[in-house]
Amino acid sequence: MDLRLVSPEAAENEAELSLRPRWLREYIGQGKAKETLSVFIEAARARGESLDHVLLFGPPGLGKTTLANIIATEMGVGIRVTSGPAIERAGDLAAILTNLASGDVLFIDEVHRLSRMVEEILYPAMEDFALDIIIGKGPAARSIRLDLPRFTLIGATTRAGLLTAPLRDRFGVISRLEFYQTGELEQILLRAADILRIELDREGAGEIAARSRGTPRVANRLLKRVRDYAQVRAAGLVDLDVAREALDFLQVDPLGLDAGDRRILSTIIEKFGGGPVGLETLAASTGEAPDALEDVFEPFLLQLGLLARTPRGRVALEAAYRHLNCLHLAPRQVTLEGG
Ligand code: ADE
Repeated sequence: MDLRLVSPEAAENEAELSLRPRWLREYIGQGKAKETLSVFIEAARARGESLDHVLLFGPPGLGKTTLANIIATEMGVGIRVTSGPAIERAGDLAAILTNLASGDVLFIDEVHRLSRMVEEILYPAMEDFALDIIIGKGPAARSIRLDLPRFTLIGATTRAGLLTAPLRDRFGVISRLEFYQTGELEQILLRAADILRIELDREGAGEIAARSRGTPRVANRLLKRVRDYAQVRAAGLVDLDVAREALDFLQVDPLGLDAGDRRILSTIIEKFGGGPVGLETLAASTGEAPDALEDVFEPFLLQLGLLARTPRGRVALEAAYRHLNCLHLAPRQVTLEGG
């Protein structure tokens, strides 16, 4: 399990149910996805039908599970929550499907991790609301078709491209979630502070928001740690100064980088002349696993334009030299390219 304070993945037991908005009107940000969904929800409701299958994709921590719950609430139906890796056998999925009530939402997180066999059961279920069951073995085997209640499958994945084409094609609504703007995170933090009875002013919220990597889950996690700091080291009110002090204390810097992120960048700059350096070499020099570098650290550094992946390896960009206050170490072409 990833223990970083700025990780977008949920820690165990982190599902903060009380903080989750229940209705679309309470949900802050994701304007495009919200608008699309509200139109389809209203239309389906007016016709008394179930909502078409929905695929939500985007980086972790942006509220895919929350949105699935909201859709069920708005449609006035039940929801069953599971995940791709949790459905091991075809029978597991059959059991879930046959237990749904008419109109229910079935939410499958990490839907790209369904096994092939399970995925093939899902096709007729999504398309015809039917389950094809094979009875017996060999030449005597025959297939019977079982009717299922109409249901809405909501699939979540980090990238739509991870899905097989036949599965992707069976979703009627495909919504992409984006990283949140700082202003949106500020509102989310003020709402969370209100619910958790944390004294937080707008400037304090803005400071936490700016360091939250565009991710509500990170923002809410930082808020709780900042509250602890404020309780012990300040009078309790989280204003701009307290938020800054607390986040510095937590080693989350103004861009939202933690010590691990900075170590990766400074290693490339100080030990490898700014790069290019190969993934394996960088992993060995920083003590991180290559997978963790690629999946956990790099996406955010790439997004901020601090790092580039080139065919010859990783390169620190000018913004990284600037951020780490070592622009004097930058090779000429980095400076020229960047500015
Ligand atoms: N808490 C976490 N994500 C949220 C969002 N998008 N809107 C409101 N509260 C949230």
